[in-house]
Amino acid sequence: MAERRPRREPRGLGWDGREFEVTVGPVAHGGHCVARHEGRVVFVRHSLPGERVVVRVTEDRHPGFCRADAVEVLEASPARVERPCPFSGPGKCGGCDWQHVDVAEQHRLKADVVREQLVRLGRLDAADPVVAGLVVEELPGGALRWRSRARFAVDRDGAPGLRRHRSHDVVVLPDCPITVEPAARAVLGRDWSGAGAVDVAVDSAGVVTTTRLDRRGRPTATRVLRPGADVPEEPAGRAERRAGGRDWEVEGTGFWQVHPAAADALVAAVGEFAQVRPGETVLDLYAGAGLFGGALAPAVGAEGRVVCVEADPGACAAADANLADLPQAEVWQGEVDAEGLGELLAELGSGPDVVVLDPPRAGAGRDVSRLLAGTGARAVVYVACDPASLGRDVAAFAEGGYRLAGVRGFDAFPMTQHVECVALLVSTAR
Ligand SMILES: C[S@@+](CC[C@H](N)C(=O)[O-])C[C@H]1O[C@@H](n2cnc3c(N)ncnc32)[C@H](O)[C@@H]1O
Repeated sequence: MAERRPRREPRGLGWDGREFEVTVGPVAHGGHCVARHEGRVVFVRHSLPGERVVVRVTEDRHPGFCRADAVEVLEASPARVERPCPFSGPGKCGGCDWQHVDVAEQHRLKADVVREQLVRLGRLDAADPVVAGLVVEELPGGALRWRSRARFAVDRDGAPGLRRHRSHDVVVLPDCPITVEPAARAVLGRDWSGAGAVDVAVDSAGVVTTTRLDRRGRPTATRVLRPGADVPEEPAGRAERRAGGRDWEVEGTGFWQVHPAAADALVAAVGEFAQVRPGETVLDLYAGAGLFGGALAPAVGAEGRVVCVEADPGACAAADANLADLPQAEVWQGEVDAEGLGELLAELGSGPDVVVLDPPRAGAGRDVSRLLAGTGARAVVYVACDPASLGRDVAAFAEGGYRLAGVRGFDAFPMTQHVECVALLVSTAR
């Protein structure tokens, strides 16, 4: 009988805590820049390309590379600014990556990262005009106080905060300057004894919903605080959101774009790429509360069809309510995976004209991407919150005969490494 092999801890070279000077090279996916020292790659946080810095190694578990923080800046980039958040920086809160960077430069760094992922993982040519021309666009509202939905960690004493970078340690925070004030006020500086985390969301009407999670991440209690009220209520119905000229219902702390301007911007970008025509069939995969399907349904008209597919029962219930006035739109509860998608396509009969997909961070994956490419859809509009997943899935679509025809980036997460992209893939057979 086979024996279980002991797990081997990955080994570094004993550089933990070591300090040395480096010249910082290009930005890389993950909120850091790349430098080299004694033949090794060093991923440096809190730095910028071109800077000369002293780094301290924070993690050395791999022979090929280590991770480090820039702890002293010897020659600063012109794009370096004073951090607006006093709780960010080396060894502090791990929530933000680019607090030390001018906002316009954050957009350039994010565009560099998306381009690099499309070239390296998407196997595209850097000179391809779609790749070379990519920019990351600013959303209205500024780089602070935009986060309308967040999860805060809670330490053993019941104090809320965020985790240190790549650590389980909770950095207790009195405030979080990227979070909208009502959400920060509802959670931070309060006693959450016994909880493991707290989810908070503020809807378009200013209603704050908090959900207490236990140490295993299970929700245990939800409360609602209405604007002007001092005392939270037991959970009321759903949160209200407005986007694409419509009102939407979502579960209190359920999925909705975190940046208040993101849903509008993404709906517009998806509509522009999809160019949906009357009578067409549209698939909205990973549909959440039906945002994209509902926004595109009027364009397919009474003769068309929109099928929204979503796994989460609460999100499906919200989508049912949101699409009730659109008889051409329907909600299917189920997994978007090779099996579920195969069954859905078989039941649809003819292939979709347009596919919109907005998968979670891991992306749709190769199997789902190849299946979708096999439908021959006129247009595939891919909404991506991770450019690496987008790159991998673009490569899978390319194997199935689709090329990247357009991509827009949106800074839906200022001060952090995260970026939202909307990509258009079209069949090369057409
Ligand atoms: C990034 S959200 C997008 C939601 C929606 N498009 C929006 O913008 O509001 C991803 C959604 O996919 C759902 N989901 C995750 N994995 C899924 C799967 N394998 N099959 C179907 N839905 C899934 C999640 O519950 C979540 O609602």
